[in-house]
Amino acid sequence: MGIIETKIDTQSDEYKKNYEAMTAIVDDLKSEMKIARDKRSEKAKGRLAAQNKLSVRKRIELLLDKNTPFLEIAPLAAKGMYDSKVHGAGNVVGIGMVCGREVMIHANDPTIKGGTVYPMGVKKSLRCQAIAMENRLPIIYLIDSGGAFLPLQSEVFPDIDDGGRIFYNQALISKMGIPQITAVMGLCTAGGAYIPAMSDEVVHVKKTGAIFLGGPPLVKAATGEVVSADELGGADLHCRESGVSDYYAEDDPHAIEIVRDIVRNLPVNEKSQLSLKKPDAPLYDPKEIYGIVSRELKIPYDTREVIARIVDGSEFLEFKELFGSTLVCGWSHIHGYPVGILGNNGILFSDSALKATQFIQICDKRKIPLVFLQNINGYIIGKAYESRGITKDGHKMVNAVATATVPKFTVMAGASFGAGNYGMCGRAYSPRFLWNWPNSEIGVMGGEQAADVLCTVKNEQLAREGKPNMTDEEIGMIKVPVMEAARKEGNAYYSTANLWDDGIIDPADTRDVLGLSISAALNAPIRDDVAGFGIFRM
Ligand code: COA
Repeated sequence: MGIIETKIDTQSDEYKKNYEAMTAIVDDLKSEMKIARDKRSEKAKGRLAAQNKLSVRKRIELLLDKNTPFLEIAPLAAKGMYDSKVHGAGNVVGIGMVCGREVMIHANDPTIKGGTVYPMGVKKSLRCQAIAMENRLPIIYLIDSGGAFLPLQSEVFPDIDDGGRIFYNQALISKMGIPQITAVMGLCTAGGAYIPAMSDEVVHVKKTGAIFLGGPPLVKAATGEVVSADELGGADLHCRESGVSDYYAEDDPHAIEIVRDIVRNLPVNEKSQLSLKKPDAPLYDPKEIYGIVSRELKIPYDTREVIARIVDGSEFLEFKELFGSTLVCGWSHIHGYPVGILGNNGILFSDSALKATQFIQICDKRKIPLVFLQNINGYIIGKAYESRGITKDGHKMVNAVATATVPKFTVMAGASFGAGNYGMCGRAYSPRFLWNWPNSEIGVMGGEQAADVLCTVKNEQLAREGKPNMTDEEIGMIKVPVMEAARKEGNAYYSTANLWDDGIIDPADTRDVLGLSISAALNAPIRDDVAGFGIFRM
């Protein structure tokens, strides 16, 4: 296989300026991650210690096999929402290795408002379950939650994708034969009681863990009965009398030990087999991506230079190199796994869309996972291109992306605008995982373009009414808020806060994150869908 020869001059001014800019962006990301992980009130930390509970991070650390990675999902979910205090949307979710088995972990953080469930917390829990279902990963729930965050109950309770969906999904996951194990390490109140109830096996911690449909305050209000949480739903009651729980744990570490034993006891899951190669590091330092990616989205960069720093040995067999040059397609390996990569090198034209369609078909037939590196401003527009049928050619690519049955993985590596987001496997196209770089931007179109469109529409409306065009001041009144909104809502942090992605990653970690994602995906059969595509409009 050919090797990508880099053309990057690491001594050039441009490289150095880009490198410096990306370093600052990644430093910001690291400090945001630290805040989300560690910033908790002294009061909440004190409550945890007083109850002899471990922190959510310590629980996960004990659960995972030593020195194995934790692929965390959406650590910055809900950033900037709810007074900026509900870090990670109130729970920690991720994929890790327990007794040699990849599992999905879902853990409430009791130091954030008693582990209560906020609207974005529900969204994150549903994403966690979707990942587990698609990739057939056993789920371990570490529950410690006061249930619905009551002031926002209308946003967490009634709708199709609200709290009830979590328990509905548990029933489906159970039907699919995917193991679900719950450790009750705090309260499981009201709806929350259904998480252990709908799991295969329940470990219950003495004194601190309790399961009940109505907590002591509600019981007192409803019936006048005065009862403690432990009497109402503690480990002794549920392990000895009701049979709701299956294993009695003395404390948090003991509960984690039992969960590990349960996982060890699961039948072996045969992972999907691909034609693996011995993994090799890329020839070039992945950190050089910092200097390659332009500090301004408008300035293009060669996606091959990024590919060279992600794939094994920087080896890449480029497909149709001389045709449809604004989309780079080709085969490589990442950590030994075969992949078909599609990376943007400009706007999508008819030829690049057709090339993508053919390439995706080949990968799908050969069961080769697809990796999309998005840096896309959209499909080409204009009369000449419409007359050549860009819409029907773009549609073929979108159709192929949507219906390909191999696992797909998307990295937002710059711009993600318009239908380009769809063709390059945006969130709506169900990539198994979608990772974001901190410099990326997303939107129907750029803010300036959107503002111009609205001004044109308004001026045409005025012309129809026989009125003069807008003044500069009126134009400003339309443009400024649209551009402001695009700046705020188009950036990576807004995206990740809203769970439009699975997390923002350091671009230098892209190779490792993709490797872990592919490995997780192989827990499911590589093609468990109806194979084949829809109708391609010719
Ligand atoms: N909705 C909104 N806020 C809640 C809440 C809920 N369901 N449950 C707890 N909180 C808040 C508390 O008001 C407190 O806020 P503050 O830090 O601003 O004062 C914070 O979460 C921590 O609660 P606290 O009781 O001080 O901590 P704790 O560790 O002693 O107990 C719980 C935590 C969850 C066990 C306890 O608060 C509780 O029993 N909550 C009610 C549970 C319930 O009945 N839920 C029904 C909802 S379906």
